[in-house]
Amino acid sequence: PLRGGPVIAVDGPAAAGKGTLARRLAEALGLPYLDTGLLYRAVGRIALDAGRDPAQPAQDIAHALLATDLQRPDLRLPEVAQAASKVAAQPAVRAALVETQRRFALDRGAVLDGRDIGTAIFPDADVKLFITASPATRALRRFLQMGGDSTAPDCAARLREMEEALRARDMADASREVAPMRAAADAHVIETDTMNAQAVLAEALRIAQARLATI
Ligand code: DC
Repeated sequence: PLRGGPVIAVDGPAAAGKGTLARRLAEALGLPYLDTGLLYRAVGRIALDAGRDPAQPAQDIAHALLATDLQRPDLRLPEVAQAASKVAAQPAVRAALVETQRRFALDRGAVLDGRDIGTAIFPDADVKLFITASPATRALRRFLQMGGDSTAPDCAARLREMEEALRARDMADASREVAPMRAAADAHVIETDTMNAQAVLAEALRIAQARLATI
């Protein structure tokens, strides 16, 4: 398909640093950026607000999604992440969001982060990255990012809880039947346990620039 610029897919499990990386990568390369998790979070949020079970059919919500729905500040809450994972397992919800994601990259190319960008949304992406880290590392990063105090007495218990929640969501996202989370065969996997955000960006840029130089 003819596109106005390159497409870069950034996939991986929850709290691996995909969002930070994808945003910075887009900035460095002058490409538009789309956080596709927000689409599923917005659908989950609207279902919760309507008192509906997010595991029940929600394609009506996905079809009616507006750009303003993605700007709600309350999409980052843990209960919304859980609801997002549930609506995301519905084939009809995923189908309703495919065109929105593909259209986003049409004019100028794009960096998109999610779970299935390199496998289902853009199997022909110019660059595919799969960003990951151990559940313990990801739980700690999320804990600190949320302003958690690592000297608080309940810190260990809260970390364990967050790690459990991340594991459960990853398991659900990786085992669903439609477009499960997995690294594409031609994705570059970056294990970020011992890297900071700056090092991850440098590595991703190195990979992306090498790939883009060949097209
Ligand atoms: O990236 P995130 O944590 O904001 O995503 C929330 C949920 O949305 C995630 O648990 C699974 C779903 N999701 C998806 O199925 N496919 C995507 N491309 C992005 C998110």
